[in-house]
Amino acid sequence: MKETNKTPLESTPSLSRRDFLKDAGLVIGGATVGSAAILSACNGDKGETKTVTNTVTNTVTETKTVTTTQSIVDPTDSDPRLTFNVNGKEYKVAVQPYWTLDFVIREQIGLTATKVGCNSGECGHCTVLVDGKPIYSCMMLASDAAGKVIETAESLCEDLMHFDRISQAFVDNQAYQCGFCTAGFMMATKALLTKNPHPSMEEIQQELSGHVCVCSAIKRVCDTVYELGGGYA
Ligand code: FES
Ligand code: FES
Repeated sequence: MKETNKTPLESTPSLSRRDFLKDAGLVIGGATVGSAAILSACNGDKGETKTVTNTVTNTVTETKTVTTTQSIVDPTDSDPRLTFNVNGKEYKVAVQPYWTLDFVIREQIGLTATKVGCNSGECGHCTVLVDGKPIYSCMMLASDAAGKVIETAESLCEDLMHFDRISQAFVDNQAYQCGFCTAGFMMATKALLTKNPHPSMEEIQQELSGHVCVCSAIKRVCDTVYELGGGYA
């Protein structure tokens, strides 16, 4: 189901404690303020055209909103950048051949809901959908994802006040603790419910078996997915 046969050729920069807390959400006095995926999904810039210059010397240009997969191969195009269709928008990025997809999504495009845990195909935190299939983005070369339809956890939340049914269910059921694994779980959930709208608990556990939650929120996650599939109705 997931691509795990490739060796990452470059390590993603590690998170500082400050970055982790900023991205992962805060749990204060027992009250969950927000999860990584859910908070960072709401950047409020949908539909705009912008250019983002990052600190890695690359320039990412978001060109326009798109709804279909577009080929990156154009022999008449002298632009060396590859086109990434992420959450319905096109981004052109000059990609090094050894860059992995998670690095492009997070560090080049700037969509940080996708989290990197093990960086070696073990934890599932970095899961995104590529042409509808859940993929460990730390194990996929970015060049292999160019021109395909990529979906990240940002696609599950229009803004801070408008979650989709999956992210809302995770919030309602507090199916997270620190939230670092949540984006991966939600994207795997979206893939599962798309192909199987009413999964059994066994099917859910099987589908999510490639995901690790060190906070022991896995039961709540499975219960949430079961509820989304109508299992508790
Ligand atoms: S960060 Fe990709 S599988 Fe763990
Ligand atoms: S909620 Fe913390 S790792 Fe899953």
